[in-house]
Amino acid sequence: MLQKKIINIALDGPSGAGKSTMAKEIAKEFGFIYVDTGAMYRAVGFYALRNNVKPSNKAAVLPLLDSIKIELKFENKTQRIFLNGENVSSAIREHSVSSAASDVSAIPEVRSFLLDLQRSIAEKNSVIMDGRDIGTVILPNADLKLFLTATPEERAKRRYNELMERGQRMDYETVLADMIKRDKNDEHRDHAPLKAAPDAVLLDTTGNSFSDTLALLKRVIKDRLKNVL
Ligand code: DC
Repeated sequence: MLQKKIINIALDGPSGAGKSTMAKEIAKEFGFIYVDTGAMYRAVGFYALRNNVKPSNKAAVLPLLDSIKIELKFENKTQRIFLNGENVSSAIREHSVSSAASDVSAIPEVRSFLLDLQRSIAEKNSVIMDGRDIGTVILPNADLKLFLTATPEERAKRRYNELMERGQRMDYETVLADMIKRDKNDEHRDHAPLKAAPDAVLLDTTGNSFSDTLALLKRVIKDRLKNVL
């Protein structure tokens, strides 16, 4: 029997561009697993905070890696993340963990610590994997690379609404300032900075509704992958 080809889609872009919302829908539509690599950096950042370690302090973060075991489990194709056996899927969504994740993600040893896990999932499964360096570093041979973006103001508005829905009170100006700071961190770090791969399809979703963006993505995927889907 012919084995169905494993398909890898890389989805990169800045925070709040709508990657995870879109990736979940795409995964459902095409039967892929959605892998959220940001959750892995969040788990490391969360562990640093829990151990009273400043996430930007490389010398203090590195020894922690020896006592971190991260596992992803997929239930109904939805990712759950476990840190040393504990389900931290909700805890890592706290606002304070966002900047901790960004800080630890600038440490090259943290990036290589997570690289094998990310690649091994994509080797065994058809995935849409979201992150910052998936098309450039993790899956350079992905079948399709997408780069999703929107203006900082639009992304901050979306993140603000998300936080409100989860009952986390913050003012919009703070969310916007944090977003701009995190963009700067992610784009200007020395190792695997946020950037579009030269062969990525660039999609700016500013002003688009959820359904416009989803329809656009589905069209791009069906068109680019018509020979393998
Ligand atoms: O996608 P997110 O906002 O949950 O990611 C949290 C942080 O992790 C983000 O500031 C950048 C970092 N990150 C990264 O450097 N590389 C990835 N592949 C995914 C996330």
